[in-house]
Amino acid sequence: MSYENILSTTTNGITKITVNRPNKLNALNKATIQELHEAFKAANKSKDTKVIIVTGSGEKAFVAGADISEFADFDVENGGKLAAKGQEILFDYVENLSTPVIAAVNGFALGGGLELAMACHFRIASTNAKMGLPEVSLGVIPGYGGTQRLPQLVGKGRAMEMVMTAGMIDAAQALEYGLVNHVTTEDELIALAEKIAGKIMRNSSVAIKGAIKAINANFKDGIDGYKTEIKQFGKCFGTEDFKEGTTAFLEKRKADFPGE
Ligand code: COA
Repeated sequence: MSYENILSTTTNGITKITVNRPNKLNALNKATIQELHEAFKAANKSKDTKVIIVTGSGEKAFVAGADISEFADFDVENGGKLAAKGQEILFDYVENLSTPVIAAVNGFALGGGLELAMACHFRIASTNAKMGLPEVSLGVIPGYGGTQRLPQLVGKGRAMEMVMTAGMIDAAQALEYGLVNHVTTEDELIALAEKIAGKIMRNSSVAIKGAIKAINANFKDGIDGYKTEIKQFGKCFGTEDFKEGTTAFLEKRKADFPGE
């Protein structure tokens, strides 16, 4: 499938999705959000994709936010619809994918950009990364899940300060906050993401799918995460991957998971 605003390539089990509007610092306009939805959906369905890496094109930005030029003249109703649609087709969608998604934050990750990174299952960053939710400096609040996911990741007080000041933190501070898991040079960012993806791919994709569901359940209203864990744990016992994993261990060899 060909896209206008993003690139999607799959090699050795890894699909790399790149937001590709470098002249606009990869800002998320409506078309880009729709294309990202299509690309994530296709990758999640594909047998060839075991891990997804999302990053930004060019040397300056991961994603510098939602495209401000598109919503500058919106009214109350359209503003609400913008957030609802975006959350549904991209941000919640990515968080709930059964394929692991790693954000490789390679520059500015602001507003919707940081919200996209936070919707991914975890994040790594290059030393030039700058992260923030500057929406209140524009007279709005984060609308793509930022007010919920930032406190989940960094704690309420830090999230309050970041949102209220509309400031940016650098990669080192993001690492200290636990917003990103690793920081590396710009040149090595994708290689590091691929190295982590390689470790993930050695494991059972079916078990990983259940683990993502169980971990996400902790952050969903009205859902008991412990019960979700019990259900997902039990389900593993009916899978070919479980048979292979336990048999391989007992036979003192590496497991070769069928992914079923
Ligand atoms: N929406 C739309 N366009 C954006 C954008 C956004 N979120 N972020 C950057 N761009 C565009 C700029 O308008 C500019 O386009 P132009 O060359 O046609 O004028 C281009 O990307 C380059 O950005 P520029 O501001 O010239 O780069 P810079 O290095 O001087 O500044 C930033 C970088 C990230 C500090 C600055 O672009 C910025 O503050 N962007 C908005 C961030 C934001 O508020 N995001 C949250 C949105 S809710």
